[in-house]
Amino acid sequence: MAALLTPTDDAVAAAEAVADATGRPTHDATLVLGSGWAEVVTGLADPDTAVTIPVSELPGFAAPLAAGHRGTVTSCLVDGVALLSIAGRTHLYEGRGTEPVVHPAHVAAATGSRVLVLTNAAGGLRDGLAVGDLVLIRDHLNLTGRSPLTGALFVNLVDAYRPALRAAAADAIAAVDARPTEGVYAAMGGPQYETPAEIGMLRTLGADLVGMSTVPEAIVARGLGLDVTAVSLVTNLAAGVTGEPLDHAEVLAAGAAGAARLTTALRALVPAVVRA
Ligand code: HPA
Repeated sequence: MAALLTPTDDAVAAAEAVADATGRPTHDATLVLGSGWAEVVTGLADPDTAVTIPVSELPGFAAPLAAGHRGTVTSCLVDGVALLSIAGRTHLYEGRGTEPVVHPAHVAAATGSRVLVLTNAAGGLRDGLAVGDLVLIRDHLNLTGRSPLTGALFVNLVDAYRPALRAAAADAIAAVDARPTEGVYAAMGGPQYETPAEIGMLRTLGADLVGMSTVPEAIVARGLGLDVTAVSLVTNLAAGVTGEPLDHAEVLAAGAAGAARLTTALRALVPAVVRA
């Protein structure tokens, strides 16, 4: 798709700062790591290739608020592919507007990345999903009540998560772990978790997963002409499914417990989607 957007000035400046700090003028892919996964990139990197920069040294990034979100950007090689990894996303619920939320997508484009890989922790709605499952996002429902786009930017979102990349990602993950399933991700504004009635509604709407991120970045990345691949780690069963209350600390703990699995999956996925 022809790009309808161009990277912001802050993103171009951030990409220049990354190039200066790392000696890598461009990157093949950019990865956004979800809650508590800053260290995942360490396990991805080819030995002695990682260079980490605090986001406080790069234009356009808001300092992270949510527990488990650290603000760092790491450049490394993964099986020879140049990857920029961003740990510490901004969420819509932080109330700082959409700009910092979608900044990673702009930075990805400014670094020359062709693919944006988005990861998140999500609640599982579909019967059969279990905590620890990896799910490739097939499509999304934007229920945040917000768009990251302003103006006549009619971004096409048919096959936003390109089937060819999903297939490549699924095959790559299957070689190192169980073949991931696919699902529809419903993005909610948060920060409160859903009610059981809302989860019932989301099921009716066709959602398999629920979370509070990913969708704004995916929309902007498509507008910038990037391919998008997104993977959810199921950290909990959605509200009302088990009868237990939802607790952010437990969601983070499940995310931490799944980090090694995510690392293994991403180490296979990243080169596969870049080469797809
Ligand atoms: N709901 C919304 N966001 C989430 C959840 C959830 O159940 N789990 C992880 N992020």
